[in-house]
Amino acid sequence: MIFFATAAKGTEGAVRDELREHRFRGVRATRGGVAFEGPLGEGYRACLVLRTPVRVLLELSTFEAPTGDALYAGVRAIEWEHAVSTQTTIAVRATCRSSALTHSQFIALKTKDAIVDRLRDRFGERPNVDPEDPDVAVFLHLVKDEATVYVDLGGRPLHLRGYRKEAGPAPLKETLAACLVALSGWDRRADFLDPMCGSGTIAIEAAARAARLAPGLSAPPFGFTRWASFDEESRREWDAQVERARASVVPPAERPIVRASDRDPLVLAAAKVNAARAGVDVVLARQSIDKVPDPGDAWVVLNPPYGERLELDRDDAARAGRALASMRRAHRAVLAGSPAVLESIPLRPSKLLTIMNGDLECRFALYAPAR
Ligand SMILES: C[S@@+](CC[C@H](N)C(=O)[O-])C[C@H]1O[C@@H](n2cnc3c(N)ncnc32)[C@H](O)[C@@H]1O
Repeated sequence: MIFFATAAKGTEGAVRDELREHRFRGVRATRGGVAFEGPLGEGYRACLVLRTPVRVLLELSTFEAPTGDALYAGVRAIEWEHAVSTQTTIAVRATCRSSALTHSQFIALKTKDAIVDRLRDRFGERPNVDPEDPDVAVFLHLVKDEATVYVDLGGRPLHLRGYRKEAGPAPLKETLAACLVALSGWDRRADFLDPMCGSGTIAIEAAARAARLAPGLSAPPFGFTRWASFDEESRREWDAQVERARASVVPPAERPIVRASDRDPLVLAAAKVNAARAGVDVVLARQSIDKVPDPGDAWVVLNPPYGERLELDRDDAARAGRALASMRRAHRAVLAGSPAVLESIPLRPSKLLTIMNGDLECRFALYAPAR
């Protein structure tokens, strides 16, 4: 089977590397994500162990769809009865680019009709549509008149790990935070610090990665467990994977030290609750960044305030920039939502990446230790 791990723009390399690290097969990065291959159980495993992708999709079919009728026929030819019964709810989302069909809502509707009509023919009854919480979430991507039909194995975006109930005013998605940790190049042995931690997402993702704590262990049930095809044997396979993931967690004494600080006591309280829920140790301190003790040769990854609600004033930003520059032996990595953030850091980045944080184009600047 062919799977597709979708990635936030600019993070495809992190997703590809994580798939390789976990020994998935046939890994190849393309626009918007990374494809990989294997039996269905590999799709389950991807949902369980991967921290960086936005979603894990299972590819069902690709076919030419220059017209609505061709689209309908191609979707109707798929053996939906394996995943969908009359008791299962479905939802369809569509995207299109450079194709004769240009309305994604029309494409989604045609797709839904084809699925429903096939199942009505087979079972005499049709499944219901539930756009909010479907059992089977279908994605249709139409590019240059070629349709690809996917189902979402997770059933929801994978950043919803279940540990973060408390958040500051501008929390990062957990999956994006995991990508930053990966792209920072942290070796998972040196100490790690986020000195502007907000609700703690970056530090929690770092701690969990170093502990090899699979994100799916504490997440709500994945979509595939609600498919008609998820039978006794699938359940046994899934349970065995969960067991293996539990057995590979690194004991606390062997984990590196992960610290996080912020000047705002309210967000720190949230970070504390979130870390406990995630099952990781993060050493928290209430501190302004310019009062943080020299972290030595740690990795320092942060996402300073930007934009109207969270703007740092000029003096504050300059102080924060000087504080980062003074951490001379550290590997520093800064996700900047506005150019002003990087202008206040008196250092030249050794690497500058462009990453999408939702709709916001950000820079991720890496600063190597001073020689
Ligand atoms: C964009 S938020 C970080 C969000 C965080 N990555 C998360 O996922 O929740 C920026 C944080 O910087 C903190 N901050 C602002 N000025 C600071 C300073 N001088 N020292 C330490 N923290 C500061 C704010 O309180 C805020 O929590």
